[in-house]
Amino acid sequence: MLDRAVRVGMIGCGTQANVHFAGIKALGADQATVAAVCDLDEARLDAAGQLWPQARAAQDYQDLLAPGDLDLVVVATMPNTHQAISLASLDAGACVLCEKPFMMNVAQAEAVLAKAAQTGLQVQLGTNMRYMPSSRYLHDLVQGGTIGAPVFAKAWGCHHDPPVWGPHYHRATSGGGVLASTLVHTLDLAMWVGGSPNPLTVSAATRRLFPGKRGAKVAGAIHAHYDAEDLISALVRFDNGAFYALEGNWCSERTDFHSFELTTTRATVTGAPLAVSVDVAGQIVDQTPQLDGDDWFHSVHTQDAALIAQLRAGDPWDLQDARQLLNLQKVVDACYESARTGREVVL
Ligand SMILES: NC(=O)c1ccc[n+]([C@@H]2O[C@H](COP(=O)([O-])OP(=O)(O)OC[C@H]3O[C@@H](n4cnc5c(N)ncnc54)[C@H](O)[C@@H]3O)[C@@H](O)[C@H]2O)c1
Repeated sequence: MLDRAVRVGMIGCGTQANVHFAGIKALGADQATVAAVCDLDEARLDAAGQLWPQARAAQDYQDLLAPGDLDLVVVATMPNTHQAISLASLDAGACVLCEKPFMMNVAQAEAVLAKAAQTGLQVQLGTNMRYMPSSRYLHDLVQGGTIGAPVFAKAWGCHHDPPVWGPHYHRATSGGGVLASTLVHTLDLAMWVGGSPNPLTVSAATRRLFPGKRGAKVAGAIHAHYDAEDLISALVRFDNGAFYALEGNWCSERTDFHSFELTTTRATVTGAPLAVSVDVAGQIVDQTPQLDGDDWFHSVHTQDAALIAQLRAGDPWDLQDARQLLNLQKVVDACYESARTGREVVL
């Protein structure tokens, strides 16, 4: 329980950090304030300092993590630094909201989750799609049991073009390409809505279409570092008998970029656009509710607001637990291992 504003540290002040900044500002200074900002890049650090003039600023995050000073650290750097910054933040007594993808591999994820358990602090991942109204609706509908048991899901994460505003295409920095950076959102969502089963086996294949596709649109300097997959297909089997087919594609012609479709024993539900079709005595009945507010940025702000409100109230972050975080990382790791070896991975 906190009877003052939550003190937030933002490590990494790039594209996604600015989405968080807007969400935190909108809460008002009595709820949360950014008390520390950090970026290696001086111009980005200056811009963050102008937004939050009272915040301490540094290029080295270690200089900002005085024990007990921050309640929450948002890790908004690229994934190659997520583990070190998360561990240091937990050591300094702050809870961690880490941007996706979580870590570079399962071993890193286990170390961070072990540190969280040891310190009694909380860690959550920036899988903001869970905070869309349609996601919560479908989660509660499926878990309510009235539309049968989950059997099969398709989850996809696509873009027309690779996201080259940051080094998301450079594996050593990003931990992977379209799977780690894009598909991970709807994979997480489909697993959560489907009851968070444990993955059993994973078979995946990946390719890189760039620069054959979209290469001509991208600045020359990026070509030298673009080594991640921009196309993936995978099949995942879970311990509740469900199986999921995944597709990620950064050179896609699709217009429904991020979504999933879940088939249960009685219904089919779709994330975006929201749709619910239920078998009622042999008839397919459209039971899609009218819901607003599935905006992407709004869901990031809703996540920030929820976590900050829970910290102030002394309530646990209840939308994601350590097992779910680890299972997501296991599926991501296993996809890459399967693609590399050409074999199914048994978890
Ligand atoms: N949830 C979402 O919708 C969403 C959207 C975009 C990005 N992301 C995630 O957010 C993270 C950041 O992505 P981005 O697009 O903002 O990248 P970005 O390159 O725009 O910003 C990252 C910033 O981190 C800084 N940085 C890197 N290493 C650092 C270090 N050791 N110490 C301090 N600063 C450091 C960089 O200088 C850069 O300014 C990634 O994990 C990405 O996958 C999430």
